[in-house]
Amino acid sequence: MGFKCFFICSLLQVFPLAISKAPASCSEADRAALLGFKAKILKDSTDSFSSWIGRDCCGGDWEGVECNPPGRVNRLALQRPVRDGPIPESLSNLTRLKQLVLEDNGLQGNIPSGLGHLPSLQTLSLAGNHLTGAVPPSLGNLRNLVLLNLGRNSLTGPIPSSFKTLVHLQSFDLSFNLLSGSVPEFLGQFHNITFIDLSNNQLSGHLPVPMFNLVTLSDLSLSHNQLTGSIPDQVGNLKSLNSLSLSHNKFIGPIPGSIAGLQKLWSLNLSRNGLSNPLPAISSKGIPSLLSIDLSFNNLSLGTVPNWIIDRQLSDVNLAGCKLRGAFPKFRPDSLSSIDLSDNFFTGSIATYFTNMTSLQKLKLSNNQLNFDLSELILPDGISTVDLHSNQVLGSLSSVLNSRTSGFLEVIDVSNNLISGTIPEFTEGLSLKAGCFEEPDKRHHSYEFRTTGETSMARRFRQPAHRGNPEQLIGLSP
Ligand SMILES: *[C@@H]1O[C@H](CO)[C@@H](O)[C@H](O)[C@H]1NC(C)=O
Ligand SMILES: *[C@@H]1O[C@H](CO)[C@@H](O)[C@H](O)[C@H]1NC(C)=O
Ligand SMILES: *[C@@H]1O[C@H](CO)[C@@H](O)[C@H](O)[C@H]1NC(C)=O
Ligand SMILES: *[C@@H]1O[C@H](CO)[C@@H](O)[C@H](O)[C@H]1NC(C)=O
Ligand SMILES: *[C@@H]1O[C@H](CO)[C@@H](O)[C@H](O)[C@H]1NC(C)=O
Repeated sequence: MGFKCFFICSLLQVFPLAISKAPASCSEADRAALLGFKAKILKDSTDSFSSWIGRDCCGGDWEGVECNPPGRVNRLALQRPVRDGPIPESLSNLTRLKQLVLEDNGLQGNIPSGLGHLPSLQTLSLAGNHLTGAVPPSLGNLRNLVLLNLGRNSLTGPIPSSFKTLVHLQSFDLSFNLLSGSVPEFLGQFHNITFIDLSNNQLSGHLPVPMFNLVTLSDLSLSHNQLTGSIPDQVGNLKSLNSLSLSHNKFIGPIPGSIAGLQKLWSLNLSRNGLSNPLPAISSKGIPSLLSIDLSFNNLSLGTVPNWIIDRQLSDVNLAGCKLRGAFPKFRPDSLSSIDLSDNFFTGSIATYFTNMTSLQKLKLSNNQLNFDLSELILPDGISTVDLHSNQVLGSLSSVLNSRTSGFLEVIDVSNNLISGTIPEFTEGLSLKAGCFEEPDKRHHSYEFRTTGETSMARRFRQPAHRGNPEQLIGLSP
């Protein structure tokens, strides 16, 4: 009260004309609530709040503030760094607020439970702050919420059971927090939901089967949690699913064959679980939209890459640690941009396998038993990352790093092979940023390539003067 009075009095002194001319269109209570927020901010490094002056918070000059109906704030959106300070209870006086978006602001402290008293709120995003403590159960009062995003904070405790009332939610994001407890069953009541991201928390327990009734759900990420049990067959009911990420959990058992019926699924990431054989028999018409698949590091013993993966136009294939063996599979050359088949038992040569893969950017084949001479390796021009470490590759580096090396190549790792010769001098125009090589004395070196800075290692590999501006190589001994 004291603050409000002080502010009005001081405004009267500063803007007596403005007040006598036009009646302010901003509600007194809303203005006080906003100024209560401003007063709590300790540091406003982008100076956004400097526009919060004058009497009319609805006049359009107050950054991030919008009004409708006239005089009542219905939208407060600040998406710039960096403000230190808590979210004040005073915001709960903005009773007509429909959208409250305070993202990446550096806000600290708890989420005030008073935010649960904003009956009109449809959008609430407090993502990317430093908020701590429990998620206030009062937010369950926000029955009109369509979007709730509390991601990228440090919130603890369970997802409140009071959230079962938020049946109009279309987007629900609590990712990158420290939330524990289970994935709530009531998610199955959110009949209009399209987006659920609860990834990167400490959620445990089984997947609630009612969740698989959500026929509108298009994106589901529960990766990086401690979820257990199997993936239920009902996953095939999620007819609108575009992307499914369950990676980095403790799921066991086989992958249900019902995923074959997911017509819209383009990204399937089940990596780093304990999923086991057999892989479902999926026909060439199953998962017709699939572009990206990651089954790496499960308890799968595939032997060979299944035909439904080899034969279709995918952009990302990640089957690391799937106990694949034998000769390298012949993928279709036209679409792949990233291949990770590391930690398998492939043998033989891949020297010309990738020649025609014009879209290929990343190739990771480390920890196999590949055996060929580097001088036979023909890489596609657009490739940026090649990881061949821990194989049985022979030959000298100068056959891959030379005047014909593509300018797109940024990272090459051929350490722990049977490479001989010396580390080649660098040619102009290479964009190499990092490389891992091994010298004949079996010392493993990592190099980072920069255009500035210099060390004795850099000097050692300096390019000869006659080639013009040298790239400098900075040795980083592992
Ligand atoms: C909210 O508004 C009421 C009435 O205008 C006022 O008494 C109260 O102090 C305000 N609350 C906060 C937290 O600013
Ligand atoms: C879902 O959306 C439809 C169409 O927009 C709407 O009629 C219905 O009330 C919504 N249901 C819920 C639970 O929000
Ligand atoms: C699968 O998810 C993991 C982390 O959850 C991520 O590191 C990996 O890149 C994802 N795979 C693909 C193909 O996007
Ligand atoms: C790995 O999969 C096999 C079946 O392929 C199963 O017998 C075994 O129990 C699984 N191991 C673990 C740790 O889940
Ligand atoms: C690459 O494409 C050319 C022309 O289509 C073909 O002659 C050649 O055999 C292909 N190379 C590989 C390794 O598939």
